[in-house]
Amino acid sequence: MNAPILAPSLLAGDHGALADGAAIVSRLGLAWLHLDIMDGHFVPNLSFGPETLAALRRHGSTLFFDTHLMLSEPHLFIDPFARAGANRITIHIEPALDHATVLKSIRAHGCEAGIALNPGTPAKAVEPFLDQVDLVLVMTVQPGFGGQAFREDTLPKIAQVNRWRSERGLDLRIEVDGGIEHSTAVRCRANGADTFVVGTHFFAARDRAALAASFAAL
Ligand code: DX5
Ligand code: ZN
Repeated sequence: MNAPILAPSLLAGDHGALADGAAIVSRLGLAWLHLDIMDGHFVPNLSFGPETLAALRRHGSTLFFDTHLMLSEPHLFIDPFARAGANRITIHIEPALDHATVLKSIRAHGCEAGIALNPGTPAKAVEPFLDQVDLVLVMTVQPGFGGQAFREDTLPKIAQVNRWRSERGLDLRIEVDGGIEHSTAVRCRANGADTFVVGTHFFAARDRAALAASFAAL
């Protein structure tokens, strides 16, 4: 079982002070920052773009940028996000595109590659790509907005991806994103998740160090 990683989502931070949000994460000794990129088309919301990542780098952030592209046309943005400082780029399985080629292009840009699936998408949709990714992101809410309630019905999907991982000896992380707090993370962990995106509950926490410690102990 991979060690747990807490990846705070900057979407829930102060958008007028994003570099400060990234600094809060690194001061806690955490290594990852989750960046939610939305296009107003694949999801009904907008967030930020490559220039935001580049600015965070200019402001000195050395965090691992875990970049989640909620885009209908992610292939148009691999190069800009890689140049801007993304370390991992995750694309969704739902848009009709040549996923294998896009995943290859992510790796050719020197980034790790991830594939994400929405709550309504069956696990078997990502099965053909498991040997081409470093991470499977099982969305535990319908993407687009922070602060939504965790969906219990996604747990069997986490378990299924975990079974494939062990049966096939795959080296990949299983990430969950949406409505994650300690209690929901425990249930995801029991089903095989090892990477936990936390937006609202991270930035709203009164004691973020205690929260980070509780995730490290999952
Ligand atoms: C949902 C985003 C999530 C979101 C999680 O569209 O992909 O990363 O920021 O936020 P919380 O933790 O608030 O559910
Ligand atoms: Zn996300």
